[in-house]
Amino acid sequence: MALRGELIPPGDKSVSHRLVLMALLAEGEMSVTGLGDCEDVKTSLAIFRSLGGSALGGPPNLTIKGLGGRLNIDPDREVELDCANSGTTMRLLAGLLAGLPGRFLLDGDIQLRRRPMERLADPLRQMGARIETTNGLAPIAIQGGGLHGIDYQNQEGSAQLKGAVILATLSASSPSRVTEPIPTRDHTERLVSYFGGRVTTTGATIEASPGSLTLPADFHTPGDPSSAAFFLVGAALIPESRVTARQILLSSTRIGFLKVLDRMGASIAITLGKDRPETSGDVTVEYNGRLTATEVTKEEVPSLIDEIPMLALAAALAEGETVFRQVRELRLKETDRLTAIKHQLGALGVKVRVEGDDLFVTGLTKLTLPETLDSGHDHRLAMTLHLALKAARASVPILGDESMAISYPAFQADLARLDEGQA
Ligand code: S3P
Repeated sequence: MALRGELIPPGDKSVSHRLVLMALLAEGEMSVTGLGDCEDVKTSLAIFRSLGGSALGGPPNLTIKGLGGRLNIDPDREVELDCANSGTTMRLLAGLLAGLPGRFLLDGDIQLRRRPMERLADPLRQMGARIETTNGLAPIAIQGGGLHGIDYQNQEGSAQLKGAVILATLSASSPSRVTEPIPTRDHTERLVSYFGGRVTTTGATIEASPGSLTLPADFHTPGDPSSAAFFLVGAALIPESRVTARQILLSSTRIGFLKVLDRMGASIAITLGKDRPETSGDVTVEYNGRLTATEVTKEEVPSLIDEIPMLALAAALAEGETVFRQVRELRLKETDRLTAIKHQLGALGVKVRVEGDDLFVTGLTKLTLPETLDSGHDHRLAMTLHLALKAARASVPILGDESMAISYPAFQADLARLDEGQA
């Protein structure tokens, strides 16, 4: 039951959201290939269209016409925008809309309504935005316009908050400086600059200036490393496996999981391809015997935040005890992902404990099987549990695994194809 073959994962979700949402501000027309086709990106696309944007075709290939900030709305009537399950949509959009004339109400599903929004409203308010959360949560009401730049410390290590401040600054009257103690994914900076905006990074400080954006004529979205991670890490865990993920995003802010996997003793080969605006290339992981435990430092966490469920599974099958330091942000994802990892790996017989904000996983040689597993409607946990069952050569129901479409609609098809090298 090895995983063997080639994989072309969906277009990167973080880059796809930014392409679509930044087209609200940018001028010009862009032919996009490889846009992510997951539910979250479709949410951003539906909002882009509802605000008057034109996007012909459907993911992965579309022609998008920029709106140049001229939203097709009545500025005196509140426009309701449904961000569904997508935290990235809600946070980037809140920043972007805070700088434009209009009244907006951003809402989402029950999971999104539980995620913290005051940490987003706070810097935007400092920029002069009129923004109200609902007891710190969504729905968020925004009366846009009249912003100025700020100095902002991204203490939470959130790329979404950094992105919101940068996008708000594009329509503000003065520049902003964002300082990050630990670097987070830099797609907003790279794309703003690629679209002709002014963003410079010096050491830990990013300076963004107000200004207009122009869409490039063509854009190819590299594959999502966070989706590829399920199969790449899976290949390191399942004997006789060998998986190559083609043309995936390989920027240093996203490939922490490959560095950790390398430290654990996996066999990894990388062939770099395109570099601008994002680094991409091919990655092959081949089974190389049992992995060994490692320590994931707090500095590494933002570069692998979405891969922690899958790395925790790798730790569960490795020799020794692995520790993930300072992973408190996991509590604020689609679910309390820290507790969910603990319970679901625990249900598979793995010794897992959380001490403060650190996660400890002790490896074992064989997973035991409960009658059911429960993803808690968390897409990344659901896919991790599917790989756990593949490693255990077993099948039990995984509750809530339809949530996988949030980030990776073709996951089951790709799993079936790679299984035993039917690719
Ligand atoms: C994302 C940033 C991360 C990540 C999420 C996507 C982005 O969230 O977990 O899946 O595209 O900016 P935070 O910024 O909340 O850490």
